[in-house]
Amino acid sequence: MKKKHALVVGGTGMLSDVTLWLHKKGYQVSVIGRRKERYHQLMERADHPDRISSILVDYHHTEELQGKLTEAVEKHGSFDLIIAWVHSSAEGVIPAIMNVQKNKGRRKTFDLFQVKPCNAYFENKIPEVLPECRYHEIFLGFKVVGGHSRWLTHREISEGVMDSVHHKRRQTIVGQVEPRDLQP
Ligand SMILES: NC(=O)c1ccc[n+]([C@@H]2O[C@H](COP(=O)([O-])OP(=O)(O)OC[C@H]3O[C@@H](n4cnc5c(N)ncnc54)[C@H](OP(=O)(O)O)[C@@H]3O)[C@@H](O)[C@H]2O)c1
Repeated sequence: MKKKHALVVGGTGMLSDVTLWLHKKGYQVSVIGRRKERYHQLMERADHPDRISSILVDYHHTEELQGKLTEAVEKHGSFDLIIAWVHSSAEGVIPAIMNVQKNKGRRKTFDLFQVKPCNAYFENKIPEVLPECRYHEIFLGFKVVGGHSRWLTHREISEGVMDSVHHKRRQTIVGQVEPRDLQP
């Protein structure tokens, strides 16, 4: 039987631990990033390197991205789980993923967890998704420790994302997003 297929956009950066967690849980994981070196660093930490494959692409190039995503789903099946950390300059990424799922004739429900920066919490912007897609959002906030505020560590970010995926929470705030004037 084919493994469940997960996609982690930005899975070689601060979400590296999330990528490794998913591959340990038995997923086949496709990770998007531009730099081979970051992918190799991630692979050095993988217990089952055959379960992680890279999609090396600049996600601003939507056509190329869609082509590479199509190759990945032809090899490993459509995506059961998508975790997306995408900079706001790349609005074509989620529509490209939805197109690939649609073209593959995905009928079964799948989950998209979009990881968003702190201020996105106040914008309430939700992308268009397929009816089969359960949409979840995770806001990365900040922490106030000993009277000082700071941004989250990679570990705190990854733990917050894993907790949200595990509990399938519709909305998660890692740390705090308010009061705004306490942002670091
Ligand atoms: N609230 C918070 O505390 C908060 C929120 C957001 C960010 N941060 C911090 O800010 C730091 C910088 O953020 P970051 O986004 O650079 O984090 P990052 O997760 O370290 O890097 C971004 C990830 O996306 C990939 N990526 C970036 N641009 C891409 C593109 N154009 N096409 C394809 N893949 C791309 C990167 O791989 P490649 O580099 O190989 O392309 C990498 O996997 C983070 O390390 C984090 O600590 C904190």
